[in-house]
Amino acid sequence: MSSTFPLNAWYACAYDVEVGRELLARTVCQRKLVLFRRVDGTPAILEDACWHRLLPLSKGRLDGDEVTCGYHGLVYNADGRCTRMPSQETINPSACVRSFPVVEKHRFIWVWPGEAALADPALVPDMHWNDDPAWAGDGKMIRVKCDYRLVLDNLMDLTHETFVHGSSIGQQAVAEAPFVATHGDRTATVTRWMENIDPPPFWASQLRHGLGREGQVDRWQIIRFEAPATIAIDVGVALTGTGAIPRDGKDSDRSQGVNGYVLNTITPETETTCLYFWAFARNYALADQRLTHELREGVARIFREDELILEAQQQAILDHPDHRFYNLNIDAGSMWMRRLIDRMIERETGGTTPPQRVIPLRPAA
Ligand code: FES
Ligand SMILES: [Fe+2]
Repeated sequence: MSSTFPLNAWYACAYDVEVGRELLARTVCQRKLVLFRRVDGTPAILEDACWHRLLPLSKGRLDGDEVTCGYHGLVYNADGRCTRMPSQETINPSACVRSFPVVEKHRFIWVWPGEAALADPALVPDMHWNDDPAWAGDGKMIRVKCDYRLVLDNLMDLTHETFVHGSSIGQQAVAEAPFVATHGDRTATVTRWMENIDPPPFWASQLRHGLGREGQVDRWQIIRFEAPATIAIDVGVALTGTGAIPRDGKDSDRSQGVNGYVLNTITPETETTCLYFWAFARNYALADQRLTHELREGVARIFREDELILEAQQQAILDHPDHRFYNLNIDAGSMWMRRLIDRMIERETGGTTPPQRVIPLRPAA
């Protein structure tokens, strides 16, 4: 059993467009899975190991709603039950592979790797901006060679933008502005406002695109973590002093601004690799398909900068197994994020979680 991720949770295992009438192999929480769509379009997920001699079923064939093993031809239906065996009439009743609860929502295929009886579709993380007609955008999946929690750490503290993404979204104001961190039972939120600043290059160009305006702005980043592995970041800029900053009990007025959501859900593959699904959705210039394309490719370039940092960090963690990590103020959001994950793991293991092998969190002395 791993001590780094809970199993009783929904994890994104593919973008909707990745799953079709071909067998797709994926690893989620150290479980090998095979994904496909039934004839009616609904997704199905089976354990990717034949009951007979363990050949991955993803190396077999999909016919109708049934998967034929590519070695000796056992056939399984979409529930994982064997329906045919070569050269014999009676089918051994124990011949089956595990099938996993699956939900398709907000452009992702979600799998529940833990106890099937607990798989409540209402617990799928909120990523609605990804297919809401009031928002436009697109995203990608990248495989990152690091503990999924390092990606979450990276997103919970955006001061790194100043140093990692200086040519696009980074600016000194991000590292200087104060922030507020709060949390609930399943969520942790970090809110940061930067008042009356020059927009960084990325936001200056979005403001021109969305509103045809230029000038000083109030900029916001509201990072919301939903345990165990999803972070939706409400980001944007509005012309300075036009009411975007919620004050004196008044609602925020963002009509003189542009708003985006950076949607992230990170699925552990193993303890040191993960599948990072992201999308960028915007609420302006909705019909501008070229902008959708440019933003997706632009964000992909920005995330490539993170990927290099994260993989180097993971390698350094493996090289220094005894290093103790101290937390700074900027780590408040990620400390809560890790605490909520640890609580989920503890609930599953009855509090017998072995000590964390990677990045123990200890408050600064
Ligand atoms: S290994 Fe699948 S049928 Fe033998
Ligand atoms: Fe980043």
